[in-house]
Amino acid sequence: MQKSIHVLNGPNLNMLGTREPEIYGEDTLNDIEQRCAARADAAGRRLVFRQSNHEGELIDWIQSARIEAAALIINPAAFTHTSVAIHDALKLLECPVIELHLSNTHAREDFRRHSYVSPVATAIIAGFGSLGYELAVEAALSMIDRAG
Ligand code: DQA
Repeated sequence: MQKSIHVLNGPNLNMLGTREPEIYGEDTLNDIEQRCAARADAAGRRLVFRQSNHEGELIDWIQSARIEAAALIINPAAFTHTSVAIHDALKLLECPVIELHLSNTHAREDFRRHSYVSPVATAIIAGFGSLGYELAVEAALSMIDRAG
C-alpha cells in the first residue's frame, strides 16, 4: 500500500480563524486541510490530517506514522517548546519530518525561540501563515519523489 503524507497539529490549532488572527491568520484548520488535501490529491498521494490538544494522542499518531507515512509534517504548537516526549517519538521516524509554524517563532517571545522538535526535524518552515502548510506538502512530495 502506498504510504501517505501525515500532517499533525498540536494544541489550540483547532481554534484557528478565531485565535489571535493578527498572528495566525483568518483561515480555519479545515480551510487549510482542504487546500493541503487538494495538493496531495493532484500528486496522487493520500493525506492524513489530524489535530489534538493532547500530547499523548500526538505521540500515538507519530508512532503510527512510523509505518504508515512517507513524510510527516508537524505543527506541534506550544508542545514545540516543552515536549521531550514528542522529541523522542519523532526520533523513531525514518521518513522526512517537517516542523511547521504559522508564525515566525523567532520574532516573538523568547520562550518560543527554543524548539525540542528542530533537532529531530529534517526541515523547518515558519512565518508563512497558512501558506506554510501548502509549501510543506509540496516539499514533502518532492522529498518523497527524490528518495525514489
Ligand atoms: C505555533 C507557534 C507556537 O509558539 C504556538 O504555541 C502555537 C502555534 C505556530 O504555528 O506559529 O500554538 O506553532
